Amino acid sequence: MKPIIFAGNSNPELARNIASHLEMELGHVEIIRFADSECRVRVEEDVEEKDVFIIQSLSNPVDEFLMEFLLMGDAVKRGEPRRMIAVLPYHGYARQDRIHRPGECLSAQVVAKLIETVGFDKLITVELHSESIVGFFKIPVIHLSGLTVFYDLVKKLNEDVVIITPDAGALKRAQRFAESLDLPLALIEKKRDLDHPHKILNMRVVGEVKDKTAIIVDDAIVTGGTLMNAAYKLKEKGVRKVIAAATHADFVGGADKILQDSPIDGIWVTDTIDIPQVKYFSKLNVSSIATLIASEMKKMVK
Ligand code: R5P
Repeated sequence: MKPIIFAGNSNPELARNIASHLEMELGHVEIIRFADSECRVRVEEDVEEKDVFIIQSLSNPVDEFLMEFLLMGDAVKRGEPRRMIAVLPYHGYARQDRIHRPGECLSAQVVAKLIETVGFDKLITVELHSESIVGFFKIPVIHLSGLTVFYDLVKKLNEDVVIITPDAGALKRAQRFAESLDLPLALIEKKRDLDHPHKILNMRVVGEVKDKTAIIVDDAIVTGGTLMNAAYKLKEKGVRKVIAAATHADFVGGADKILQDSPIDGIWVTDTIDIPQVKYFSKLNVSSIATLIASEMKKMVK
């Protein structure tokens, strides 16, 4: 039986692109908000015995889109689908993947439990902040690397490139990226202020970067602080050109302006998170993740 794809309100354009790669259209679902902001969902398709995909990026406003997604899952599950598959191009709460200080919650695990409680059978997601999040799930998780969509852009540069990891936590991701392209790697040590979210205390470059084109590889851009500070440090160390490649453009506040005015020469991101037109700037280059996700979905319904 033909599968059905539903999309929440977080990134409808990406969802439509994914569906169109699969030569399908999005299923009809009614999502309304009551005056007090409560959400109500009703699926308007017969899902019985079908494979159903629900696409939603858990981006800003995270709680709103998370709740909408969970309610969509419940509405579908009640229609007795064959399998219900969550497609989260951006997985919210992923940065809270461990307890940094006593008394903190383990939010990434709570979200995993919610997804399983609603009854999803499988999850496809992209560039998790940390691979350890997969371990919070009992259901199978297909974890895709969004950074692969930048391989061709790197090859086209034809320059003396070094890959940079912007902090120790991102080392494995940058290592994989550098190894796949057979490029050298350098490291930035980043110390965050745990009492003040997004505040960076210190950064130090370790490795050979002088006269090279440095590509900083990260999972997400939020305030732009990590990249801006890293770019200044790298230029101080004699880097010729700095490019930032991050899967998720979770821009908040003035991130667009910070990045445009920074010493970064180019910013490559994907469309896992919808970027409003007003947040576009000339250094920004957006590559679509739609083909990568669609081909994974296709394998599942073959
Ligand atoms: C942090 O550990 C992440 O991997 C990113 O580096 C971070 O989320 C980027 O945030 P911001 O743009 O606010 O520095």
